[in-house]
Amino acid sequence: MTRSRLRVGVIGVGVGTLHLQGYARNPDVDTVAIADLDDERVRHAAAEYAVTTTYRHYEELLADARIEAVSICLPNFLHAPVAIAALRAGKHVLVEKPLARNSAEGRAMLAAAEASGKVMMINFNRRFREDVLWLKRRIAAGGLGQIYYAKAFWMRRSGIPRLGSWFVSKEQAGGGPLVDLGIHVLDMALFMLGEPAVRRVTAATYAAFGPRGLKGWKGRASSSDTGLAYDVEDLATAFLRLEGGATLHLEASWATHSSAMDDFGVTFYGTEGGAELFVRNYATTNTLRLFSDVDGVATDTSVEVRSTEGRSELIDRFVDAIFDRGPTDPSALEGLRRTAVLEACYASAAAGHELELDPF
Ligand SMILES: NC(=O)c1ccc[n+]([C@@H]2O[C@H](COP(=O)([O-])OP(=O)(O)OC[C@H]3O[C@@H](n4cnc5c(N)ncnc54)[C@H](O)[C@@H]3O)[C@@H](O)[C@H]2O)c1
Repeated sequence: MTRSRLRVGVIGVGVGTLHLQGYARNPDVDTVAIADLDDERVRHAAAEYAVTTTYRHYEELLADARIEAVSICLPNFLHAPVAIAALRAGKHVLVEKPLARNSAEGRAMLAAAEASGKVMMINFNRRFREDVLWLKRRIAAGGLGQIYYAKAFWMRRSGIPRLGSWFVSKEQAGGGPLVDLGIHVLDMALFMLGEPAVRRVTAATYAAFGPRGLKGWKGRASSSDTGLAYDVEDLATAFLRLEGGATLHLEASWATHSSAMDDFGVTFYGTEGGAELFVRNYATTNTLRLFSDVDGVATDTSVEVRSTEGRSELIDRFVDAIFDRGPTDPSALEGLRRTAVLEACYASAAAGHELELDPF
């Protein structure tokens, strides 16, 4: 692209308001429209970000010929149909995580992106936290030696997003905390490890609290919440065998009787050192520790990397990719790979044994 300012639209203004914030900070962007069925959310977002054109239905926004790129921040079941419609309408697409409910939907999205020649990226924003980027560089430089085991986790004591909403419906969300939270830490772990393929998975899922209406967050309901039944897990645990022999334990929960607050991170065990990224309640400081031996004595180093949640960074990367100034990553293909891993986790949990994944 050669023109100086990109005209974008944001579809869905729950977490979509954070996309609006990122676009507002980018000097190369004009946000020209938003769309959401929830009139109150639209009013607030339009006022806060000075957006003059508002729509209720995403179809209206996609028909707005001024708009060149869209953020899709809708419930998961709408990611595939809206992304495909947007690409066919000639828009570049930034889609929220997860890419889709399952890999069949994800593959259809990738095919539509390929046919359109437009950029499609996925919002794995947390991989652009400064502490994650620092640790990735450390690992790539061989600072931990050979990593043979890793643990990725996102655990809450009490944080089921809106009981009754699309979040707790298998049909609408594709899964529970594994697709909501686990996907972020799976992405962070694979990103830091240099994108090894996941070869085999074994997993189990449980729903101890959600079906009893316990441990729900009381976030403001959206007008599209319709009292859906709880039929996803509230805890998932998985064991992943990676190409090259390393293993990755993945754990995600919205609700536990445990010391967790809202905790996520990744721990790496390497032949020359270990590293622990631990983020409590979205902390941006004091999140990183390294472990090794010096002259036979155990050492423990705190690394002071001031971080961010990576949201603006990702928006900037999307804009740069459209302007041909940077890579198209996190790519939709990475989004599809993560979705395929989680799909295999659910299949393994249902089957009660380990399953193999076809690499792609
Ligand atoms: N990257 C992150 O850290 C992060 C954080 C939160 C949510 N998300 C993802 O963002 C997406 C949205 O999550 P959320 O928390 O904002 O959910 P939400 O339910 O709060 O908001 C979704 C919005 O979509 C609107 N909507 C639903 N159907 C619509 C339609 N047909 N046309 C127009 N608008 C419609 C709803 O009215 C609602 O305002 C999900 O995929 C979620 O996984 C990502």
